[in-house]
Amino acid sequence: MPYTAFKKHETAADSLKDRVILVTGAGQGLGRSAALAFAQQGATVILAGRKQNKLEAVYDEMLATGLPEPLIFPLDLEKATEDDYKAMAEGIYQQLGRLDGILHNAAHFGRLGPLDINTSKEFERMFKVNVIAPFALTKACLPLLKMSEDASVVFVSSSAGHEAAAYWGAHGVSKKALEHLMQTWSLELQQFPQIRLNAVIPGAIQSPQRKKSHPGEVHAELPTADSLMEYYVYLMGPDSRNERGQVFGQ
Ligand SMILES: NC(=O)c1ccc[n+]([C@@H]2O[C@H](COP(=O)([O-])OP(=O)(O)OC[C@H]3O[C@@H](n4cnc5c(N)ncnc54)[C@H](OP(=O)(O)O)[C@@H]3O)[C@@H](O)[C@H]2O)c1
Repeated sequence: MPYTAFKKHETAADSLKDRVILVTGAGQGLGRSAALAFAQQGATVILAGRKQNKLEAVYDEMLATGLPEPLIFPLDLEKATEDDYKAMAEGIYQQLGRLDGILHNAAHFGRLGPLDINTSKEFERMFKVNVIAPFALTKACLPLLKMSEDASVVFVSSSAGHEAAAYWGAHGVSKKALEHLMQTWSLELQQFPQIRLNAVIPGAIQSPQRKKSHPGEVHAELPTADSLMEYYVYLMGPDSRNERGQVFGQ
């Protein structure tokens, strides 16, 4: 199934003002760029990720450039339990009182190779980070999202998940499952028009993960993460209110 092409979009300044948005994998790559872009549009961002030092660097950058003070939430999605996600949602409520968006950006990559050399352990790890974590985090935050007037949950997929691609193994399968999760939940939440779920396929973008997955590319010639941010801001903000259950890409 083809995905919906991104359209050029003019976003008004401060389009995310007064919103609280949680970004997973916010310490580097696309997640870092998204966290900064959301804050530049006025959002208070919750920086979630595995490595505290990387989250602190983003925190410092936000304060140094006069952006709204973010919250740091270190969490290893491979080890997190339902109780951890409940505690996270409770912490968000206690400290910020609301949640208006989640960008499920963090992903485990692993390695490329034929399925017959993949192990069940690799599949388990891939699914824990790429599918079960976004499910459990969304579930824990659903009561908060239902309190928002306009909540957006965005799942980050990949072209190798949208269409089967040889040698993308457990990673591709997990991203396909993630899209299916988004679409199923989107149908189930129709009676809550204030919450929308969509997915995004970034395409080839400079990032630490991209260097690993495509070592043969000239990395510097790829588009930067910042070049995508107008679409991420659009999907998180009020102008995409009527988009739901869709997979967007370039
Ligand atoms: N770049 C591309 O060309 C491209 C193409 C298609 C799809 N994507 C998708 O875009 C998203 C961002 O990718 P990227 O290229 O920016 O990758 P990246 O630079 O490797 O960033 C991935 C992020 O996920 C976090 N993460 C990984 N495992 C985690 C875990 N167990 N617990 C918590 N956080 C974890 C990492 O945190 P740490 O820094 O703490 O390790 C990192 O911040 C991913 O969903 C990816 O599949 C990217």
